Amino acid sequence: LGTGTRPPSTPHPWGTDAAWEAAYTKAAALVRQMSLLEKVNITTGTGWQMGMCVGNTGPVARLGFPALCLQDGPLGIRFADNATAWPAGITVGATWNKELMYLRGKAHGLEARLKGINVILGPSMGPLGRSPYGGRNWEGFGADPVLQGAGAAQTIKGIQEEGVMATAKHWVGNEQEHFRQAFEWGTPNAVSSNIGDRTLHEIYAWPFAEAVRAGVASVMCAYNQVNNSYACQNSKLLNGVLKDELGFQGFVQSDWLAQRGSRSLWGGELTRAVLNGSVPVERINDMATRIVAAWYQLGQDDRERWPLPPPEGDGGPNFSSWTNEEVGLFHPGSDDKTTGVVNKFVDVQGKGEEAHGKLARKIAAEGIVLVKNEDDTLPLSRNGWKNDTERPDANKKYRIAIFGEDARANQNGPNHCADKGCNVGTLTMGWGSGAVELPYLISPLDALQREFNSASVELTISATQKITPSHETELLHDQDLCLVVLNADSGEGFINADGIRGDRNDLYTAKGGDDLAVQVGTSCGGGAGRTIIVIHAVGPVILENYIDLPTVHAVLLAHLPGQESGNALADVLFGDVDASGRLPYTIAKNPEDYGPAAKILYYPNGVVPQQNFSEGLYIDYRHFDKQDIVPRYPFGHGLSYTRFHLSSLVVQIKTLVRTPLPKPRPDADALPKPPGYETAISDPKTALFPEGFRKLKKYIYPYLTSLSSIKQGRYPYPPGYTTIQDPAALSAGGGPGGNPDLYATIATVRCQLTNLGERLGAAVVQLYVSYPANYTNPDTGEAIDFPVRVLRGFEKVEVKPAGEGGVDHASGKGGRERKNVEFKLSRKDLSYWDVRQQNWVLPEGEFEVAVGWSSRDLVLFGKI
Ligand code: NOJ
Repeated sequence: LGTGTRPPSTPHPWGTDAAWEAAYTKAAALVRQMSLLEKVNITTGTGWQMGMCVGNTGPVARLGFPALCLQDGPLGIRFADNATAWPAGITVGATWNKELMYLRGKAHGLEARLKGINVILGPSMGPLGRSPYGGRNWEGFGADPVLQGAGAAQTIKGIQEEGVMATAKHWVGNEQEHFRQAFEWGTPNAVSSNIGDRTLHEIYAWPFAEAVRAGVASVMCAYNQVNNSYACQNSKLLNGVLKDELGFQGFVQSDWLAQRGSRSLWGGELTRAVLNGSVPVERINDMATRIVAAWYQLGQDDRERWPLPPPEGDGGPNFSSWTNEEVGLFHPGSDDKTTGVVNKFVDVQGKGEEAHGKLARKIAAEGIVLVKNEDDTLPLSRNGWKNDTERPDANKKYRIAIFGEDARANQNGPNHCADKGCNVGTLTMGWGSGAVELPYLISPLDALQREFNSASVELTISATQKITPSHETELLHDQDLCLVVLNADSGEGFINADGIRGDRNDLYTAKGGDDLAVQVGTSCGGGAGRTIIVIHAVGPVILENYIDLPTVHAVLLAHLPGQESGNALADVLFGDVDASGRLPYTIAKNPEDYGPAAKILYYPNGVVPQQNFSEGLYIDYRHFDKQDIVPRYPFGHGLSYTRFHLSSLVVQIKTLVRTPLPKPRPDADALPKPPGYETAISDPKTALFPEGFRKLKKYIYPYLTSLSSIKQGRYPYPPGYTTIQDPAALSAGGGPGGNPDLYATIATVRCQLTNLGERLGAAVVQLYVSYPANYTNPDTGEAIDFPVRVLRGFEKVEVKPAGEGGVDHASGKGGRERKNVEFKLSRKDLSYWDVRQQNWVLPEGEFEVAVGWSSRDLVLFGKI
């Protein structure tokens, strides 16, 4: 892939997709009427805290185009009241449930629309989780492109069906927080993620391709550099890969201050650049068109379809990110003291059966992964004793002690720290722009105290990280059951919490949690009790210090559950819902097992810190498989309360030719034209601040104060730069997500699933593919290395237990329920990105398909 010295990738492709054509036509008609200043105004953020949202753009009121409100983030509505604090992306990924991914997106979109938000700054699909230490991995769905891609696509579909634009972020390679940009980290430059072309295509760009296929309206370019060129100015990535090859039709927005320059490159600077001739008029036309087209594409102009947000107003946001008071400043970032009603406290959480808390609880419960359950310790009985035979005498109470600070809520209130930038009390989400205010919080203790039957259970609470020696006997030795609730936190690099500057420093539990687990795990019930460990964490946690201790019977990885934490935990602990979460990453035995590449670059190693992705494709389970390292728990692992059985694998193959059909290439005449707008540079005099204009301090306007700096021809375009759309230059794509032929199904895999146990349960059936061994591309003579296996499909399927009136779908008769599970494999699923041919290539030879329960527990095998 390009380096700092590669020639620019131009032209910037115009939108060409049929699904966006109507929106583009309308956008062209509107933008054609806009002056240069108006075009600049809609592409420009007005400055930090200059409007109600974290991002606010300028309007063109004359033509009815509004200022847009852009708001974080991936797990809810940041800085807002009366909105849902959803389970985080990693929890959603751990459900492996596409329907829930979609429903969460839809409810999130609805809430955003009712708050007057135009653009949600999510979902996050980068970081993907190259490093288990990555501070923001929890905002996305897991360390595999197919899982991450499904989470992203379903979320986008849901959000956008509610008329709100979604943002696929961060494009691309933003895999660590340290040095993600220069201004926070005090380095002269941001880190450069050096990513090979094949790795980019097969790992990091994959979820973005899925986002484009889902019709995403916006993509946020990342802070970091990629191959020593800033992601927000890397023409190969933006023009070449994203817009041409992946066929992205919407608009790119830079992460906040991600464009490098001594001052904002927007507003007046952009006006000046166009007037100078250093930014082509075609370029600004395209920028404006893409924004307006995205707005039309989502129907945001259509007030019949999407009525104005309540209460009556002008359609702008009905909340302020900057105050919780009803009345507040309109432009808190400037010297302007104008105030008015900024918070209208509109409750958008849904009501009754539709209350979003119910959905949040379901997702949080399905996102809990039961990794160990010895002697069927779980599910628990609310009476403590599982049955009367277990109970020694009718008067004896079952004794349960609950340990760990994570069991209870922060005593200063669940929203005590700004952006959740502290780890106090139970962990519901990580910190940073991806955090939101909790409208309420059900802590584990709240739920457990409510659920255990106090007539037969004696509950002792020790919700701290330490057990004082004087209390040890009473707290520990006298118990039948011990519950330890721990956590591990991380977040975005602008906050340093407990010495964690975004990226994790280690992979253990926080605040001495491991010591507590060891103490309880050793001595619960004097060594004869049962210990259950629950961990709320942002990602993988090394469990080795306590997992094999004699009393440790069950371990649950409950991820980041959001507001319904305790309810969701109780649902799984008591077996009201099956334990159906699966690991969205690998749990290693030792931190070193993740490989040298998993290490964060904590100290800059140069003027431009260099992070080489030299492991290529081999991250997470691909690395463990290649190096033959046995993990503690493999990617995809998770136990259920019932037993499932898979049978009858059938593989059906359609067409198999090596390279995809050529991209349908338009002839030169059919190429889209700059939609007929003015390409001449406008009269600079029109760019001056209008006379008597009241300027707010720090506010970014499109106007200029003087024309003296405008010298045309002084800043020529880089050599090779062109704005002419050339079919030969636009070669790799052809449709949303790339060449349409890549998404044609070329094989179908089917199997059958039965539930052999006594309980209703949900299985996650996973499909992995192994490429032909020892393959050499006959066209290039190059030997190609493949991962041992890669995830290419998954389905979560609920199946009734035997004898519960389930219908056998195969025979139509009553009895044991058997469900068909089907996977479609596309050409892309079975191809690799060939760097020399610059194309996806389907290797000849025998593929193995394997279906099963995790990347290391596969039960059915077939060949293609
Ligand atoms: C920076 C973060 O990286 C990005 O994810 C977020 O959307 C913006 N800040 C706005 O808060």
